[in-house]
Amino acid sequence: MKKTHKKSKFVETKYLNLKQSPVEQTLKNIEIEALATIKKASSPETLKEIEVEYLGRKGKLTHLLRGLKDLPKEQKPFFGKLSNEIKTNVERSFANKLQELENQKLKKDLSQEFFDTTIPAKKRKVGHIHPIYKIQEEVEQIFNNMGFSIMDGPEVESEYYNFETLNIPKNHPARDMQDTFFLQDKDDEKHGRFVLRTHTSPVQVRAMEKYGAPLRIIIPGRVFRYEATDASHDSTFDQVEGLLIGKDVSLSHLKGIMAEMLSTLFNADVKVRFRPGYFPFVEPGLELDFSCLLCEGIGCKACKNTGWMEFMGAGMVHKNVLKAGGVDPEEYQGWAFGFGLTRLAMMKHLIPDIRLISSGDIRFTRQFN
Ligand code: FA5
Repeated sequence: MKKTHKKSKFVETKYLNLKQSPVEQTLKNIEIEALATIKKASSPETLKEIEVEYLGRKGKLTHLLRGLKDLPKEQKPFFGKLSNEIKTNVERSFANKLQELENQKLKKDLSQEFFDTTIPAKKRKVGHIHPIYKIQEEVEQIFNNMGFSIMDGPEVESEYYNFETLNIPKNHPARDMQDTFFLQDKDDEKHGRFVLRTHTSPVQVRAMEKYGAPLRIIIPGRVFRYEATDASHDSTFDQVEGLLIGKDVSLSHLKGIMAEMLSTLFNADVKVRFRPGYFPFVEPGLELDFSCLLCEGIGCKACKNTGWMEFMGAGMVHKNVLKAGGVDPEEYQGWAFGFGLTRLAMMKHLIPDIRLISSGDIRFTRQFN
């Protein structure tokens, strides 16, 4: 019996009456129709609709291509190749037309847009330096001009540097003067527990160990104390340490240098005075005050009617501290000081509450632009 092939879907199409192989004709007709429709598309949106009509899941071309599987085996290679060519052709035509329409749209948009070249450019918003670091830079500059180098030290410090080398041995009551944040980890037997440094003074010994004597440095940095905050006390604040070591250094140098620094910073004739003070790492120890800038020494609310502002601790470096830093106290002597940079900024800008400074409140910091 003569074997008959299953009838192709294409045979049933309206192109059956054409002379060419009906399948081939159908495919070519769809191609011609698709290309013509694409050509006429007037916007990317209509093009998208056309794409769905021909190449979508239920699209005309997709439908025909699916039908190819029913063709006789010997016809499949020919029609497979042909249909691939047609599909690629149609796809390429879509891509080209889309590009063309998009270019047209862009050109139209640009030509319709009114571009006023006289409008000034938008000003870029640039941040500014925080008031604390602004004053730190000013202080650094002034000391630098007087021959001081700027040093840095770790904020996580060992008990050894924070206390022991500063002549504050274990169980010494002076450790209670600075309430401390202790960290869980221990450094080692010699260096003890880790702490958040309570002052910048540990860098005195680190500097001596590293550079020896003579030495002329300042060390600005952040310090931490476990204490209840109020308008003039914060638990995180900044200090500036100073250290001058030489063969004939005296406290009169300290007085001159601080008067110069404060006068330059405040752009006024600032006077300083010493009072006795106690710090285990200096001997003798003292406190330095400067003349009140608001009342010029007459007495006002800000200086509690004394005419003086309390400013910093200082003194001649204790010989035990020099020894801890490897400096021979028989050959060298020096002084050290430590002042609160945060409080200095408060004085300079008349900031009433220290907590505003680290509040992160942009309305506050913007005032120092
Ligand atoms: C010290 O920290 C010593 N290391 C200073 C020193 C250095 C003395 C070298 C001698 C030689 P004192 O605890 O007083 O000292 O702190 C120094 C300054 O830090 C104070 O004058 C004050 O301005 C500031 N300060 C202290 N505690 C606070 C706080 N809780 N909040 C803000 N500022 C503070």
